[in-house]
Amino acid sequence: MSDQQIKAMKLYLRVERVFAQLRDAGVGDDDPIPLEVLCRFDQYHYHGTDAVDEGIARLALKPHHRVLEVGSGLGGPARYIAARTGCTVTALELQPDVHEVATELTRRCGLGHLVAHRQGDILEGPVPARHFDALFGWLVFLHIPDRERLYRRCFEALRPGGGMYVEDFFERGAFTAEERETLATGLYSRDLPRLDDLRRDLERAGFGEIDIEDMSVPWTTFVAERARAYRANREHEVALHGEEVFANLDEFFSTVARLFRDGNFGGMRLRARRP
Ligand SMILES: C[S@@+](CC[C@H](N)C(=O)[O-])C[C@H]1O[C@@H](n2cnc3c(N)ncnc32)[C@H](O)[C@@H]1O
Repeated sequence: MSDQQIKAMKLYLRVERVFAQLRDAGVGDDDPIPLEVLCRFDQYHYHGTDAVDEGIARLALKPHHRVLEVGSGLGGPARYIAARTGCTVTALELQPDVHEVATELTRRCGLGHLVAHRQGDILEGPVPARHFDALFGWLVFLHIPDRERLYRRCFEALRPGGGMYVEDFFERGAFTAEERETLATGLYSRDLPRLDDLRRDLERAGFGEIDIEDMSVPWTTFVAERARAYRANREHEVALHGEEVFANLDEFFSTVARLFRDGNFGGMRLRARRP
């Protein structure tokens, strides 16, 4: 996968906008960054750090655990997990610019001793085998159509007994041709699984204790409110980031809200274990 193609998803354009958000929140460019301030801007999934707390609880993280976050984005969940639990976290991110911003944010939060940022593709990348006690993925699997390889790589990264927690999308109804096109362009997502396929493929990869929960209803509400609030804040957002960034994010947020509202696009969270 090219890291340029994935930029078709407009959330990933101009990711350094987080520094403007921090300045706007009173954190200067050379200041240390308080994590509780950063957490308002660095979580690229739904329900912010509440969702990360859920993952921490479901995998029962302990301070000595080694954690891998696949598709770590700006590093929001990785830093929060490290600060909250004391675990060491490897944050693997595909896009070089996102990886660089994430690394800088971690340094300025003073969490570099717990969070190690790696740039690469989970399908190819620098991930040791049978190493991690816990693996997380928040809204990354949607970008990876080769699910057989993805699940195998995740399985191999875990030590026996290790757990995986994922929040992602699935095909809930039957996508129309237009929805498929919107997913491919606007979300850089091809071929989402149905829930039955997901369970079967995880079993084939060797996972056990698979527990999948449909999150479509609460996520539909969340993304609708996110799109509404963003548009309502137009004046402030344009002043902070300019017209182009506003227009891109407004389009992205409203596209996701529409996909959920129309009912064929679903969200789920899952936990599974390497026996
Ligand atoms: C929606 S963001 C979520 C980021 C983070 N997990 C969070 O919740 O804040 C998904 C991230 O996964 C990354 N990604 C996509 N495909 C990947 C791959 N094959 N290997 C590693 N990272 C990937 C993207 O570049 C993007 O930054």
